Amino acid sequence: MVKDITRFSFPTSIIFGPGAIRELPGELLVMGVKKPLIVTDQNMEKTDAFKSLLNVFSTNRIDYKVFSEVQPNPHDIDVENGVAVYNSAACDFIIGIGGGSPMDTAKALAVLVGMGGNIADYDAQSDTKKDIKAPLPTIVLIPTTAGTGSEVGKCSVITSTSQKRKIFLCNPLMMPALAVLDPELTVSLPAHLTAATGMDALTHNIESLTAPVFHPMCDAIAIKGVELTVKYLEKAVKTPDDIEARGYMMLAAMMGAVAFQKDLGTAHSLSHALSAICGLQHGLANAIVLPYVMNFNKEVSKREYTLIAREFGIDIYGKDELECAESAIEEVRALSKRVGIPERLSSVGVERAQLQDVNEKAFLDPCHYTNARSCTKEDLMSLLEEAF
Ligand SMILES: [Fe+2]
Repeated sequence: MVKDITRFSFPTSIIFGPGAIRELPGELLVMGVKKPLIVTDQNMEKTDAFKSLLNVFSTNRIDYKVFSEVQPNPHDIDVENGVAVYNSAACDFIIGIGGGSPMDTAKALAVLVGMGGNIADYDAQSDTKKDIKAPLPTIVLIPTTAGTGSEVGKCSVITSTSQKRKIFLCNPLMMPALAVLDPELTVSLPAHLTAATGMDALTHNIESLTAPVFHPMCDAIAIKGVELTVKYLEKAVKTPDDIEARGYMMLAAMMGAVAFQKDLGTAHSLSHALSAICGLQHGLANAIVLPYVMNFNKEVSKREYTLIAREFGIDIYGKDELECAESAIEEVRALSKRVGIPERLSSVGVERAQLQDVNEKAFLDPCHYTNARSCTKEDLMSLLEEAF
């Protein structure tokens, strides 16, 4: 509401465009970097994109240390191992390159380097959490997927090895100083990951648009992010070297993460639990549950879903909002199908016997607290049953 005091944070500089990675050395010199820790995973380490990054460093005589032990759905132990490498190599700066896992690890690593302790100390859901305070090491993030948008986000999602659940660390201080968005780094991403990460971006834009939080700037960004995803996701999946489609999907993903400063919704609570219990890729889980969650929300979100229907090219003139909302849901379902996402959790290895555990974890996940329509534990179970 206009009567309340609100903080809007957009502190990250963004360099975008084909070949943008070549701007990095100049930026690092301006920032006074002496020895960055480059955080990535072992698959990324083998890619040409990563080798070209190291070439850029060698050519410009910038010393660095690589930490490539990040697992998919990164764990607290990954972050703690990274801190040990950062300290033993006397690094002064953190660069994360890859998908959401290396980027989230880089941000969490900055918290532990700056603040000490362990991941659980900063658990956003804990009443006894420690405050994250300056100074943290400076962070630069370089995404190689177009989905999580972690490169502009204030949060990091890390799995607790002992609790087998996702822990959220969130603070504007964790936002990187610089994000380098180079669509050329995404052209080798396989079609199924392009589809899943792109649907994650769509889920961010839709859930943030409908989250009941006052943030008109993010609302405007979210609807543009929907428009770009509708126009370019299928192209990026089907013609992987289309730099225009790849570039616009990078922007859609970045915009989704800027928008979800507002917060997310129930699709993310379900997908976090599905990843933790069933090992599902995050974007794939979101893509499958999104239409069911939209259907659950349609009465309260029909105005926003009407805007989404318009981005899909639906003629909304003179139509009832609920009818438009239903069209939007069908269009999201159809886009998901066209990019190869199955409709059911049972098609991607989830077993009925796991749904109870998923339900327990999803209910504890804070994302559904800002869902457009409040959810009981029974509502979450019904959604899982429908999506199964
Ligand atoms: Fe997500």
